[in-house]
Amino acid sequence: MRIVIIMGLLVLVGFVIVAVGYSAEQAALRAEAIEARAASQTFAKTLKGQLMAAMKAEGPVGAISVCQQIAPVIAAQYSTDGLHIGRTALKLRNPANAPDAWERETLLGFQAAMEKGVAPAELERFAFFPNKNGGKTFRYMKGIPVGQPCLACHGSNLAPAVQNALDEHYPEDQATGFALGDLRGAFTVSKEITASSR
Ligand code: HEC
Repeated sequence: MRIVIIMGLLVLVGFVIVAVGYSAEQAALRAEAIEARAASQTFAKTLKGQLMAAMKAEGPVGAISVCQQIAPVIAAQYSTDGLHIGRTALKLRNPANAPDAWERETLLGFQAAMEKGVAPAELERFAFFPNKNGGKTFRYMKGIPVGQPCLACHGSNLAPAVQNALDEHYPEDQATGFALGDLRGAFTVSKEITASSR
């Protein structure tokens, strides 16, 4: 009888330990997601601000080269504290933004969710993955919808001068023909977390 009680207690303690570990992991994941969401929002805001300023000053043709130069600079600027941020898409303009396997799977999932009526701005995915150093990698993605100002360079009816400039800078461009509200791509964040830091 006593053995049964002890066994029962051990099982209970085991469950409690697993549950506490699980909720600590969930809390850490949520904290990382809050940081990644904020970084994506700041990145988006800064990039859009610079793009709009360039459009106003130089028109869409001039803004293309601005976008080509500033997008990676702004991405690097917000890639601090072990966090890396960038943009990716299924239909690419710059091949350097190509998705890896997880990003591709996520973008396909976002696309499928949108077809079921989920708003692109609500599309978000994040998870921890074990890394080589015994720690983990946090990864985060957030969908980017096509807004009105995007159509000048990603829409269907591009001005001939815009089309020419795109052909010149991006001979393999796939990122035109989008409509308002389509999923253009996603922000993608990754962060290495060492085994000791969390
Ligand atoms: C003035 C033209 C222009 C406008 C307007 C514009 N883009 Fe782009 N977009 C570009 C260029 C050029 C690139 C490639 C940047 C690079 O080389 O990294 C690009 C790349 C991207 C990428 C990265 C993925 C890829 O295909 O390389 C995303 C995502 C994106 N744009 C979304 C948007 C959204 C959303 C808007 C509207 C808010 C927008 N763009 C407005 C020109 C433009």
